[in-house]
Amino acid sequence: MALWGGRFQKEMDQMVKEFNASIFFDQRMYNEDIDGSVAHVKMLSKCGIVSNEERDQIIAGLENIRKEIQDGEIQFRAEDEDIHMGIESRLIEEIGDVGKKLHTARSRNDQVQVDVRLYVKRRILEIREQLIHLENVILRQAEKYQDAVTVGFTHIQHAQPITVGFIFMAYFQMFKRDIERLDDCLERMDLCPLGSCALAGTTLPIDRHMTAEELGFRAPTENAMDSVSDRDYELEFLSAASISMMHISRWAEEFAWWNSSEFSFLEIDDSYCTGSSIMPQKKNPDMAELLRGKSGRVYGDLMQLLTVMKGTPLAYNKDFQEDKEGIFDAADTWFSCVRIFSGMLEKTEFRMDQIQKHLKQGFLNATDVAEHLAKQGIPFREAHNIVGRMVRCCEDKMKETGKDCQLEDLTDEDLSQVDSRLSKEMLGDIRIEACVGARNSFGGTSPSEVRRQIQAGKRWLDEAEADYE
Ligand code: ARG
Repeated sequence: MALWGGRFQKEMDQMVKEFNASIFFDQRMYNEDIDGSVAHVKMLSKCGIVSNEERDQIIAGLENIRKEIQDGEIQFRAEDEDIHMGIESRLIEEIGDVGKKLHTARSRNDQVQVDVRLYVKRRILEIREQLIHLENVILRQAEKYQDAVTVGFTHIQHAQPITVGFIFMAYFQMFKRDIERLDDCLERMDLCPLGSCALAGTTLPIDRHMTAEELGFRAPTENAMDSVSDRDYELEFLSAASISMMHISRWAEEFAWWNSSEFSFLEIDDSYCTGSSIMPQKKNPDMAELLRGKSGRVYGDLMQLLTVMKGTPLAYNKDFQEDKEGIFDAADTWFSCVRIFSGMLEKTEFRMDQIQKHLKQGFLNATDVAEHLAKQGIPFREAHNIVGRMVRCCEDKMKETGKDCQLEDLTDEDLSQVDSRLSKEMLGDIRIEACVGARNSFGGTSPSEVRRQIQAGKRWLDEAEADYE
């Protein structure tokens, strides 16, 4: 009979047992479950609910079970139902009747919440560390490529020249917010539900502040009913995971196309690519594609839990058991994606020779020329029109001669035909590099401004690293 079997006359159907059981996946939280029980029994003894001797026997029994699980000596079965009862029934088996005192002033409803919160807290810190590492890699690459000019796109069309370092710093900001989101999530969930019991607290003289402190939580949760039925900290974690996976996916997508022979902006290291089983020449950016693809499952985990929670009345419902696999999956996926992505990024070399060819296409400096005219008193709308006509002039010349013609190649004669005020001298230095160098408004792409962004990024990262040391 199960631990709760007193009022039952029949055994559970075997098929029902298996359907009901969560032990096959929630055993991942055995450490957290044991930590929660140890803290609980310490509190029970301090409050005079169990004796010090009973406490010590229970703790020794639990530590023994922890070791047995670690050593793979325990094979859980459907009969164990979940990790909470799996451990408790083993405890009773091993230390006898005194083990039956552990579940005083506690329910699985608060117990499971303690386990998941402790588990998520631990995984948040692991993932945070990986994200911090990723940010360090990004800063190093941004520094290396702070002067390297490349093509900036809008609508997947050549737009304006920027530096490679500038792109790195754009993603730096996204992952910075991902880390901040994790910190927020951690801060909000850092409350201990233990002692909420089934839904309404207990008549026993417990000390919830003590268990909260013992388990490293900021404080106990305020309302027992909320504590056993709230899963929104899990949803916050899954949302943070989804947003961060979206960032990884976007950049992975860029890597895949920058790596294509059409672009050849960069080369992904051999160690992060795979070959084809039929086409001998192939080197495929599989890691970039997998990183892009993995976002799908994490979004799925979020959608699944949102859907599970929707329409569940207060307080605990068995539906909530469906929360764990998605959480585990999202944590595993997010963690490994950040790690793989950092490695790939670190080993990637940008091919400046190839990028150079692309800089000659698409009149990347057109906006800079228009701004230059605006600085000389021509209203920007008019300047925009003038440069548009310069572009047309270049295109006409290219058609006529079959040779490349950029804005900086237009002669004084060409220019005066576009607008009588124009001359080469008046336009000044409109080479791509000069244009990038002059874009030094706050947040702009110029190398000096990117250096400022890198310095600010370093300062932030130092603080973020120190926060959890
Ligand atoms: N395995 C359960 C879960 O994951 C533990 C809580 C069970 N509580 C209950 N009253 N049936 O949600």
